[in-house]
Amino acid sequence: MADRVYLFDTTLRDGEQSPGVSLNVREKLQIARQLAKLGIDIIEAGFPVASPGDFQGVQAVAREVRGITVAALARARSQDIDQAWEAIKAAEQARIHTFIATSDVHMQYKLRMDREQVLEAAVAAVRHAKQYTEDVEFSAEDASRSDLDFLCRVLAAVIEAGATTVNIPDTVGYADPNEFGDFIRQIMEKTPGIEKAVVSVHCHNDLGLAVANSLAAVNNGARQVEGTINGIGERAGNAALEEVIMALHTRRDRFGVQTGVVTEEIYRTSKLVSTLTGMPVQFNKAIVGKNAFLHESGIHQDGVLKERTTYEIMDPAKIGITMTNLVLGKHSGRHAFRQRLAELGFKLTEEELNQAFARFKQLADTKKTITDEDLEAIVEDEIRKVPATFELEYLHVFSGTTVKPTAVTALVVNGELIQEAACGNGAVDAIYRCIEKITGRKYPLVSYVIDAVTSGTDALASVTVKLANEQDKIYTGRGVDTDVLNASARAYINVLNKIVYDEQK
Ligand code: KIV
Ligand code: ZN
Repeated sequence: MADRVYLFDTTLRDGEQSPGVSLNVREKLQIARQLAKLGIDIIEAGFPVASPGDFQGVQAVAREVRGITVAALARARSQDIDQAWEAIKAAEQARIHTFIATSDVHMQYKLRMDREQVLEAAVAAVRHAKQYTEDVEFSAEDASRSDLDFLCRVLAAVIEAGATTVNIPDTVGYADPNEFGDFIRQIMEKTPGIEKAVVSVHCHNDLGLAVANSLAAVNNGARQVEGTINGIGERAGNAALEEVIMALHTRRDRFGVQTGVVTEEIYRTSKLVSTLTGMPVQFNKAIVGKNAFLHESGIHQDGVLKERTTYEIMDPAKIGITMTNLVLGKHSGRHAFRQRLAELGFKLTEEELNQAFARFKQLADTKKTITDEDLEAIVEDEIRKVPATFELEYLHVFSGTTVKPTAVTALVVNGELIQEAACGNGAVDAIYRCIEKITGRKYPLVSYVIDAVTSGTDALASVTVKLANEQDKIYTGRGVDTDVLNASARAYINVLNKIVYDEQK
């Protein structure tokens, strides 16, 4: 049987370190559950010592998500490791992931430690973690820029101390595939006891080589790959796991390894991560971009119609991209609606179904045919909301080339209807000023992005708004509607509800 490659997802830890991304506990749980459905082996749920919010997020994932190993990150310090264990101890399978840098530049300037001190700290950390769990991963931060002999000494020592996985990060995305593959091969040859541990890699994408480096490592014996969905993460991000997975599956002839992934869940996972983080997926992104399976030129279209494999190396259905001939519209009933949602993988409670169905009917009044993308957007918008302190009741806007944009907006706030009017520099500005007056909350707007869910002038507009609270924590809200101004109001209200929800927690 082919060797198994384990997939370690760090969307909730390294991915959440993307500039402008912050996930609340509910959102982390949604992503973690979806990662378990995708068949990921290990999920790094966060860095518990970093903040109380991080601790709670990791703890919630460890308590509630089953069928997956839950890892928590810890520096090579007892206090970090104790906190990490406290957060993950309820997991079905718990892993402590401890790290310290081994490159000269990190040791000299960041840690101010010499090689012997780093070696000692690494071993002590693994021993400390081992008191809590059998499953201990050690990462040599900035490994790809470390002295090979020293790195092999550290790896041998931590394996001796009980590390079951040793991770070789290309922390700053500096390696090239030939060099990195060779580096892994030499580690395999030179490290005493390496056969007792799983060798892992964790590649950053500063030169756009994270996936290529990860695959080169697999070719040279690595059996765990770390990465994130959509490749999000620090700076230019991490290796995009969906690309690693599909490369391993599509080119099994080259790699000769297998994974436990249910590839049909990839597309849904990508969309969920993009929606909740507010980080759009670039159109031409491999595997999950909007254009990844679109054929524009006549020659290509003709070829694909005659035989799909002429221009498609992967079947979109394998990634979970479904094309349907069943079109829902205003005459469709609850039964067809429920069935289509089930086919798209949404399992809703009766109450959620009622809410989503009401939104669907409203939409069907303004839009002739409702596509799968529309359905996904309204379900995400309706169902994945936090409890609503503020709810939009109505919105009137006066705008044009010769009038001062003015909005009248009413919200229900804890059961009470409150209305305000305001002028602004534009229609959206006027709406946001009304909402600020009603809620008494005003935060710096970090970003405001409009996207069309489908094509055509009656398409659903999706608005994503990011605000920063007093502690500079970024919150993301999304609203969808056929009317851009309604979508803008919904997104703003959604993000304020998230801030309130977080405060109450
Ligand atoms: O990039 C890195 O080196 C890391 C480690 C903590 C694994 O994220
Ligand atoms: Zn990293």
